[in-house]
Amino acid sequence: MALRHLMSPLDFSTGELDKLMDLANDIEKNPDKYAHVCAGKKIATLFYEPSTRTRLSFEAAMLNLGGSVLGFHSSDSSSAAKGESVSDTMRIVSCYADIAAMRHPKEGAPLVASMKSMIPVINAGDGGHQHPTQTLTDLLTIRSLKGHFEGLTIGLCGDLKFGRTVHSLINALSRYDNIRFVLISPEELRVPSYVREAMRAQNIPFEEVVKLDEETMKDLDILYMTRVQKERFFNEEDYLRMKDFYILDKEKMDLAPEKMLVLHPLPRVNEISVDVDNDPRAAYFKQAQYGVYIRMALILTLLGLEVK
Ligand code: CP
Repeated sequence: MALRHLMSPLDFSTGELDKLMDLANDIEKNPDKYAHVCAGKKIATLFYEPSTRTRLSFEAAMLNLGGSVLGFHSSDSSSAAKGESVSDTMRIVSCYADIAAMRHPKEGAPLVASMKSMIPVINAGDGGHQHPTQTLTDLLTIRSLKGHFEGLTIGLCGDLKFGRTVHSLINALSRYDNIRFVLISPEELRVPSYVREAMRAQNIPFEEVVKLDEETMKDLDILYMTRVQKERFFNEEDYLRMKDFYILDKEKMDLAPEKMLVLHPLPRVNEISVDVDNDPRAAYFKQAQYGVYIRMALILTLLGLEVK
C-alpha cells in the first residue's frame, strides 16, 4: 500500500470521507469487532503544543483498536528542546512506530515532517493553519446528527482569524451542494483573506456579521462556536478586549431555532455558558466522543487495515 499522510481535510475526496464516516459509525455500533485489529501496532503522538482531546483521543483510538501508544506531550520533553528538527524527529520515530500524529505551533511543520517519514503522518493541528482531524470529527458529528451536509446553513462564531478548526471546516464543507456560511466575528478576528477568496472562487454564499443575535441565528442549522485563541495573540491587551466578545447563554439559546445544533471544538473558556450544556441542542460533548470513532477509522484507513 502506498504511504499516505493526512495534512488537510481535502486530502480525502468526498467519496473517501463517506467511507471513513461509514467506518466510524460501524465502529461506534460494533466496538468489539475492532478491539484487536491493531494488535502489535503503535501510534506515536508528537505534540509540541498543549492538547487534551486530540492527543488523548488518538491514544484512546489506538488502545481501543488493540494497539499501543508512545510519544511526548511538549517540545520541552523531547529533543526539540536541544534543537532537533521535526524532519529528524520524524525519521527517528519512523523506526519506533507504525503511524504518527503531530501537533506543532508552526504552520506546515507536520507537512515538512511527513516528507522524511516512512510511516503515515497525521496533522493534529499546525499553528493557525489547519486541524484536519477536528474537521473529520465535526463532519462525522454533523452527518450523524443532521443526516446530511447539503443545504445546511452553518454559522461560525468567535475567533475566525486564528481558529484553525474554522479554516479546515470551511474548506471541507465547501465541497457539498448548497452550503451557506454566516461568519460571526469582531472586525479584528475575521477569517483570513485566503479563506474568503477561496469561498468567492467557488461561489459559496457567505455573509460576515458582528452580532450574535436572533436575526443572525434565525436560519442557522449549526452554530459552531470557537474560543478566542489566546496563544496566537501578539499582546495580552488585545486578547483581554476580545475574549468575552461572544457568550452563548440560555437567554441567547431561547432566541435560536429549535433544531439548531451547537458545536464547539473545545476547549471552551467563557464563550458558551455552562447553563447551555443541558440544552438538547448542545452537541459539543457528543462531538468529542465522535472524535474517537473517526480517529479509529482514520488509523485503520491509513494503515490499510480492514475488518471483515
Ligand atoms: N479540539 C482540540 O483540538 O482540543 P485540544 O486542543 O484539547 O486537543
